[in-house]
Amino acid sequence: MAGGWVARGAAPGKVILLGEHAVVYGHPAIALPIPQQIMVELRQRQVRSPQLQGVTGANGRVPLAQLLKHAGSSLGLNTDNLDVTVTAGFPAGMGLGSSAALSVALLRALAHYAGVRLSLSELCAHAFTLECLFHGQPSGIDNTTVVYGTLLRFVRGWPPKPITAGAPLPLAIVLGNQPRQTRVLVERVRKQREACPRDTDRSFAAIAALVEQAEAALVAGDLAELGRCMNENHEILRSLGVSTVELDFLATECRRFGAYGAKLTGGGGGGAVVCVCPEQREAILRHYQILGFRAFALDWNPFERGANERHAVWQSTL
Ligand code: PMV
Repeated sequence: MAGGWVARGAAPGKVILLGEHAVVYGHPAIALPIPQQIMVELRQRQVRSPQLQGVTGANGRVPLAQLLKHAGSSLGLNTDNLDVTVTAGFPAGMGLGSSAALSVALLRALAHYAGVRLSLSELCAHAFTLECLFHGQPSGIDNTTVVYGTLLRFVRGWPPKPITAGAPLPLAIVLGNQPRQTRVLVERVRKQREACPRDTDRSFAAIAALVEQAEAALVAGDLAELGRCMNENHEILRSLGVSTVELDFLATECRRFGAYGAKLTGGGGGGAVVCVCPEQREAILRHYQILGFRAFALDWNPFERGANERHAVWQSTL
């Protein structure tokens, strides 16, 4: 197989529906995978990846060679003779989990290469150590969602709990024009908590209460209630200082066009907005495309076979 790939791995990105930032401090959050993936191919010979800058440069700035070495050593493999190619199906630095997807795809490719079978919890644990290279001290929600590939409730340090939604989830994702680094935003919130512990913890507790209400709404298939929880979660994130003029604009426009709820997703400070929009989704997507934003539909269908097992079932228009 000279010149061809010797092993491959792929992993999806993710969207946080509610609970970001509070999740770092032990509160629950809800997330689901997106269909867009990052794919890694391994070849014999030197590390060389033209797409490398696009994937790792915009977010945590971890050189691919370093990531490969860490991933290899966590599996007990010498990776000196491996060449890596990365193909990204979605942009980095947008809160869509590119670093987690890259880490998981790389680990899957290395496991394939070595003929090793990793359980989901092993893969998740290895991916978490790689995520720490990008983000310092992440909660683990990104790598967990990417590995388990389903709609889930996550609490730091606990196994994820899949959520069986009572109705299909018609979502839309709108990408802003400002990439950012999760690590910077998490640090900003940490400093704010140091300065105002009582207020910040009160905000986290309010987010946690919304996560509980949103989980009940998801199970009941109550999209209006889910939207209300998302709107309120956005306001609290705004008060924590992680929204931006652009993200507020994107969320407000989604609601104006009939979305039941809209909020920033991920660390904030730029990145993307997620909205639940059972009625006017085509209009919303068209509106943003006219304004020059990238936007795509994301359908989570709990009634498809296997939706709450290992693989997500989805459709997307990206
Ligand atoms: O990587 P992002 O931007 O999706 O953010 C992850 C969510 C945070 O709660 C902000 C950080 C974390 O580690 O949970």
